[in-house]
Amino acid sequence: MHTLGIETSCDETSVALLKNLKVLSNETISSLQAHKKYGGIVPEIATRAHLNNIDKVLNAALKRANLKIKDIDLVAATCKPGLIGSLVVGLNFAKSLSVALGKPFIGVNHLQAHVFSSFLNYKHKLKFPFLGLVVSGGHTNIYQVREADKLNLIGSTQDDACGEALDKVAKAYGLGYPGGPVIDKLFEPKYKRAFQFKCGKKGLDLSFSGIKTALVYKKDELQRKNKNLSLQAKKKLLSSFQFCLVETIVKTIVEASYQKKIKRISCGGGVMANSFLRKRLAQEGRKNKINFLIPPLEYSLDNGAMVAGLGFYLYNKYKQASNLSLAAEAS
Ligand code: KG4
Ligand code: ZN
Repeated sequence: MHTLGIETSCDETSVALLKNLKVLSNETISSLQAHKKYGGIVPEIATRAHLNNIDKVLNAALKRANLKIKDIDLVAATCKPGLIGSLVVGLNFAKSLSVALGKPFIGVNHLQAHVFSSFLNYKHKLKFPFLGLVVSGGHTNIYQVREADKLNLIGSTQDDACGEALDKVAKAYGLGYPGGPVIDKLFEPKYKRAFQFKCGKKGLDLSFSGIKTALVYKKDELQRKNKNLSLQAKKKLLSSFQFCLVETIVKTIVEASYQKKIKRISCGGGVMANSFLRKRLAQEGRKNKINFLIPPLEYSLDNGAMVAGLGFYLYNKYKQASNLSLAAEAS
């Protein structure tokens, strides 16, 4: 079965074609550059970019997969959560294609798709239950997963998402948007304890807004003494910040594994691109005999393949398409 997957929940217009769970193509155009000067995603710009790019991305995906539009058997698209204007573009495009081709349409939850991303290309066996970790610009969630669409939230941030904290701190430090990749590059292990910061944690719930403010105050304090903060000073501050953030996430997910007695954890979301987080999860996995399923970068960031994969799985499990009246939802 050939499934088309469309992801437009934020700034990436991503379209993928899968043969069952094998990815034939996964093409993405991001409008990130257009948002940079505003220091964050501007919904209106993202919506317009999706409108401009979606047919180009579809054609590129068909070409790379060596398929024709009539070869599509199922059309999947993200319906929530995300920016409403952005979601509506992908969702309506998917519904129209489904009607034009006379093929079923299925709406997919973006967070469930991130958790599903480890199973693309049959990289791991889909066997329930397992735990899910989603770390992104909008979420920091830990789930107990009973089925691909039955996720119990067992831990979550109480304020900023981890990616949001990285983005906001980088912005305050004049390092542009998005902050996660910049801080990842500046990170030097020798500076990881240069400053003592603390993230909020209560059981499996987290908080990143306090540490974000602490980073801004510390910078202001240092700048009162020395107007131009040196690159080395920034590296010390941001390495200590990233270290604390990553260690808190790692500690919490390991704790969740012991608490729920589940040793298999599927990880997804943009922050999974962080090299230190990937390394630490691998280390803790070996130490605690936990199997962290970590997708390649291409499927960690927002992508159409995870949407197609989950759509294919759910359509075949329930033998049911979504109604064409399915609405986009922000949360
Ligand atoms: O999943 P995603 O692409 O979009 C959302 O659903 O939010 O995640 C975007 C987030 C941003 O906050 C960005 O700073 C972060 O992922 N990110 C990273 C890295 N690459 C992207 N965070 C840490 N290290 C990275 N290398
Ligand atoms: Zn995402």
